[in-house]
Amino acid sequence: MTPSISQLASLVGQTITLSGWAYNFRSSGKIFFLQFRDGSGRVQVVYSAADLPAEQWDALKSLTLESSVTITGLVKAEPRAPSGFEIQGTAFSVIALAPEDYPIANKEHGPEFLFDNRDLYLRSATPWATLRIRDRVFFSIEQFFHEEGFIRFDTPILQPTSCEDTTQLFSVDYYGNPMYLSQSGQLYSEAGIMSFGKVYDFGPVFRAEKSKTRHHLSELWMMDAEMAFHDQAMNMDVQERMVKRLVKDVLDNCQAELKILERDTTLLERLVNEPFVHLTHAEAKRILKEEGLIEKETYDDTYWQDDMSTEEEIALGNKYQLPVFIENYPAEIKSFYMKKFTDEQGIVRARCADLIAPEEGREIIGGSQREANYDALKAEIIARNYPLAEYEWYLNTRKYGTVEHSGFGIGLERTVRWITGNHHIRETIAFPRMLNRSTP
Ligand code: 4AD
Ligand code: MG
Repeated sequence: MTPSISQLASLVGQTITLSGWAYNFRSSGKIFFLQFRDGSGRVQVVYSAADLPAEQWDALKSLTLESSVTITGLVKAEPRAPSGFEIQGTAFSVIALAPEDYPIANKEHGPEFLFDNRDLYLRSATPWATLRIRDRVFFSIEQFFHEEGFIRFDTPILQPTSCEDTTQLFSVDYYGNPMYLSQSGQLYSEAGIMSFGKVYDFGPVFRAEKSKTRHHLSELWMMDAEMAFHDQAMNMDVQERMVKRLVKDVLDNCQAELKILERDTTLLERLVNEPFVHLTHAEAKRILKEEGLIEKETYDDTYWQDDMSTEEEIALGNKYQLPVFIENYPAEIKSFYMKKFTDEQGIVRARCADLIAPEEGREIIGGSQREANYDALKAEIIARNYPLAEYEWYLNTRKYGTVEHSGFGIGLERTVRWITGNHHIRETIAFPRMLNRSTP
């Protein structure tokens, strides 16, 4: 491998040549401080006029922000530097001189400006650190599933039916007929487990949600896991071990990135070793009300059957300071495929759980045990006025050798937002697609 900034620890005392970009610089008299990045990291290169041929020194003096350059120098340990290293420059050349008007100067810019220039903003330290953690989370999830005996099972993005809420579908013209962009690969994964036992998919999914919040994207990446012969308790156990594993992997491998993001990791370190909290939906609603965890003037008679609001999820995360499973939502506010049961109050509930991350992470996972009975599932599809013929293939999973099974979906960007401590979800994907943003 060619040398890189990420390997400086093993290159101390050696003279190396690196190519990259000049992200900042300043000079004082005969010394020139070049802030240099090569994609793998950032390091300061210090040049002294005395050590350079005149034309190289002149090239440094006329350098512009974000020009591509090649540097040569001696690697030195430098405990005071953020990277821990410094390079004593001995040669310098410009690959391509950038015009002087690089739009993202070293001053405060509003988020709209930064995202209008996302192609360039990606070069800055915050996106760099955030998207490297995203890569680690992705890698960690894939590793976890392979170690657990799952196989990756890619599901189609163009789908003839809806998996979740039918109001949140993007439709496309498919040779003259309507098709929808996938909201989740789950229904196909359910067919997959009847062949492979345990599968996961990982890919972009689409939600035409009219939500303009810091938690919602129109295009997001979701990992759906599906497991034959698993009930909801086993399902939650897999989720908890997976979340612990990926947080631990980020803590073990991404300290430099977490430092750039100024992330306080106290609670992340805690959750790796502590059991997650379990509450039923009814308990959660009662606690929210009795402890006055959210500002609410009045509670109506059926408040405890409502969906969880963003404020309620955040309040529960703040109370427990650990991830919280909220179980058994009223069935009517959840998806058609979930297994139902009737509770002591006579409320029909779903055998499901959302996993709420603390520190304003909100819901990062939605999962459930699936209705395995052919007649019950068919009746639900009819009751919801879904086009039954389009679900015939899906019902085959229950018709031919049905089994108890469960699964879940984790939103990659919600998870990365929580772990990195970014305020807005748009920071966690390279080119966000949202209600009010579709460019660049
Ligand atoms: O809770 P959801 O809608 O669950 C499903 O789609 C199931 N079919 C998953 C399954 O059981 N296989 O979505 C799962 C997760 C959410 O918990 C959230 O993290 C993320 O996907 N998510 C979004 N993230 C960002 N923006 C949006 N608009 C999101 N919608 C869902
Ligand atoms: Mg959900």
